[in-house]
Amino acid sequence: MNDIQGKVALVTGAGGGIGRATAQLFATRGAKVVVADFQADAGNETVALITAAGGTASFVACDVSVPEQVAALVQQVVALYGGLDYAVNNAGIDPEFAPVADWSLEHFDRIMGINLRGVFLCLKEEIALMKGKGGGIVNVGSFASFAGVANKPSYCASKHGVLGLTRAAALQYARDGIRINAVCPGAVQTAILADNVGSLPEGGEDIVAQNHPIGRIATPEEIAESIYWAAVSATYMIGHGLIVDGGLAAG
Ligand SMILES: NC(=O)c1ccc[n+]([C@@H]2O[C@H](COP(=O)([O-])OP(=O)(O)OC[C@H]3O[C@@H](n4cnc5c(N)ncnc54)[C@H](O)[C@@H]3O)[C@@H](O)[C@H]2O)c1
Repeated sequence: MNDIQGKVALVTGAGGGIGRATAQLFATRGAKVVVADFQADAGNETVALITAAGGTASFVACDVSVPEQVAALVQQVVALYGGLDYAVNNAGIDPEFAPVADWSLEHFDRIMGINLRGVFLCLKEEIALMKGKGGGIVNVGSFASFAGVANKPSYCASKHGVLGLTRAAALQYARDGIRINAVCPGAVQTAILADNVGSLPEGGEDIVAQNHPIGRIATPEEIAESIYWAAVSATYMIGHGLIVDGGLAAG
């Protein structure tokens, strides 16, 4: 399946988890991939995995919550590969559980800064580059883009915000040939989940798996397939929040 041969894809938070699996998938299918992450070791490891498999990728260090770094990232994409066809705004954090009344302003700002402001900053730069040429953008939301999760106030707010931002931007740029959608996973086997499960009682991972009607947690590769489909194949899909959650939201 080489329909993106030679195209350019940017994936943020590609140093691990869903972002790494997505970067690998785009590269396997023929794209030149820019791996962005604020952890250089992790990002370079993703590039090494891609190049060892015969793909093309470069690492660019970027904290998506810092406007100057995001602007520099997109300039680097152009300098490296000459343009941008697909972008996956995936970088995100989900550090702790706490009730609203106990949640500090610092925590709130940090999570919103990466999960929501980061997506906004990336969208701004990516759209400016794609205008007049078109492209596909996927923002990574969550089951928490649609539902409340107790003890996760800022994560929920940030992921609801990602969906709102996705819809607003999608409507604005639909006629420019830029398709903007969100992919919204349930639990996925990554470092974020391991941190969260670590805060649950004994057998936490099994509890999370059984909570999903499918009876298991998704692999990052399964979510990457959905992201790829939304970015590349879903040519009539605009402003959609694609829930990929093993049936969680269907109940
Ligand atoms: N794992 C899940 O269960 C799950 C469920 C729903 C949604 N998500 C979302 O999927 C996305 C990817 O998460 P994951 O599960 O793969 O987690 P992960 O921790 O494995 O990967 C996240 C990556 O983002 C990077 N990152 C974090 N903050 C950054 C910043 N400011 N700038 C640049 N890079 C940054 C990290 O270094 C890491 O490499 C997140 O947006 C997360 O909210 C995850």
